[in-house]
Amino acid sequence: MTDTPKRNPTRRDVMKTTGKVAVASALASLAVPHVHAGENNTIQIALVGCGGRGTGAAEDALSSKSGPTKLVAMADVFPNRLKDSHETLKRAKNKQVEVPDNRKFIDFDAYKQAMDCLRPGDVVILTTPPAFRWVHFTYAIQKGLNVFMEKPITVDGPSTRRMLKLGEEAKKRNLKVGVGLMCRHCPARGELFKKIKDGMIGDLTLLRAYRQHNPVAFFASQPKPNGISELLYQIQRFHSFLWASGGCFSDFYIHNIDECCWMKDAWPVEARAAGGRHYRENSIDQNFDVYSVEYTFGDGTKLLLEGRCMNGCDQQFASLAHGTKGSAVISSNSHWPSSCRLLKNQHASTSKKYTKDIIWKCGPENANPYRVEWDHLLEAIRQDKPYNEVERGAQASLVTAMGRMAAHTGQVVSYDQALNSDQEFAPELDKLKMDSPAPLLAGSDGKYPVPQPGRKKHEY
Ligand SMILES: NC(=O)c1ccc[n+]([C@@H]2O[C@H](COP(=O)([O-])OP(=O)(O)OC[C@H]3O[C@@H](n4cnc5c(N)ncnc54)[C@H](O)[C@@H]3O)[C@@H](O)[C@H]2O)c1
Repeated sequence: MTDTPKRNPTRRDVMKTTGKVAVASALASLAVPHVHAGENNTIQIALVGCGGRGTGAAEDALSSKSGPTKLVAMADVFPNRLKDSHETLKRAKNKQVEVPDNRKFIDFDAYKQAMDCLRPGDVVILTTPPAFRWVHFTYAIQKGLNVFMEKPITVDGPSTRRMLKLGEEAKKRNLKVGVGLMCRHCPARGELFKKIKDGMIGDLTLLRAYRQHNPVAFFASQPKPNGISELLYQIQRFHSFLWASGGCFSDFYIHNIDECCWMKDAWPVEARAAGGRHYRENSIDQNFDVYSVEYTFGDGTKLLLEGRCMNGCDQQFASLAHGTKGSAVISSNSHWPSSCRLLKNQHASTSKKYTKDIIWKCGPENANPYRVEWDHLLEAIRQDKPYNEVERGAQASLVTAMGRMAAHTGQVVSYDQALNSDQEFAPELDKLKMDSPAPLLAGSDGKYPVPQPGRKKHEY
């Protein structure tokens, strides 16, 4: 951060002290649509990273009932991703999508151009692969923008330390920042948390998280084809490469780990883990097929995580908790609906067999957490309420990475070791250009380094 910290004027400050015409003229030098009288409550949005989640997050933002919103700029590194996203959003939210060609930007500095289209107090959505999060967040803070950024927000120790500092900077400037751990905004899980805190199942003694399914997304990759640069190939298939995403571990398992830590109301202090590759044939990605992690909290309680991407095996996608007086289903099948409940014994299951054991169950789950997180962020912006999820998002990202580090090195890894680790997978991402070399290079066999537990100090 080069410029001096200052508290950013809130949207209400601007409206109070300037008035509509003055606001419009103060912004005249920016490439934004004219701020019309009567429309000055509109929050403008820029989308950086126009893929699946970015398009979804933009639609969620534009669907919020908290007040008018409008998408005004988009940035990506692949023209086709931006084009598809724009078309999808136009179909879904035609009137709120005002992104002419001169506000569509393609390149590694496209994020700057898209954010330059906004006014202080508007919102930028950061939904590229997570490696770029700190780069884009740094610029958003400089521009006085509120932010929604997707999880994970860091992939290693150095980027976590940097993100924690940036989060503090955003707080000082009164910027509102949402992090896409949407389960934290799920009303049913919120009720569950209160009931666990009230002692309905006693003290928590064990938590279990499972994400075991067939290979999905870019979990695995084949050797790079011709016609695409090494850099863009790795970015396109970011779940395959640790520098870009923290691999499938960080990308896939963070929600289940985070919701378990929420219920425990603590972060684990260390992790021990195992994992390995089995049926990889010609795959060149860096992921293990299976991960088995034992996280330990400060009071000795364990959180067990089982992750697997493999065909033909039992599938489970759930988070469960056990207490001295009963058990809890935190989530039962993906993220929403959660079907969360408390049981009087240790069955922690949604099976009908245990219906008679339920002591509390959430009601109908009509509120989609992906929408609710936007209502919360936009309300905080409009009402100028403190709102900054960066610390929690960075901690969840780090705790996730801690389990991955333990599996990849074969060592017990403490929270402090993970945080203070000196392995930064991809430093200087802020300097990337289209013709830059990729942060990870393949060997002469076309394969990338794969973690070797017990043999290497670092993950690769
Ligand atoms: N909260 C959730 O449940 C959830 C669900 C899915 C994805 N996500 C997260 O959202 C993020 C994106 O995932 P996705 O599934 O949308 O991936 P995606 O590949 O569909 O989208 C990423 C987009 O970012 C673009 N991009 C990459 N690097 C860029 C850069 N430097 N500048 C500008 N654009 C760039 C890509 O071209 C692509 O269009 C990830 O962090 C992922 O973990 C969260």
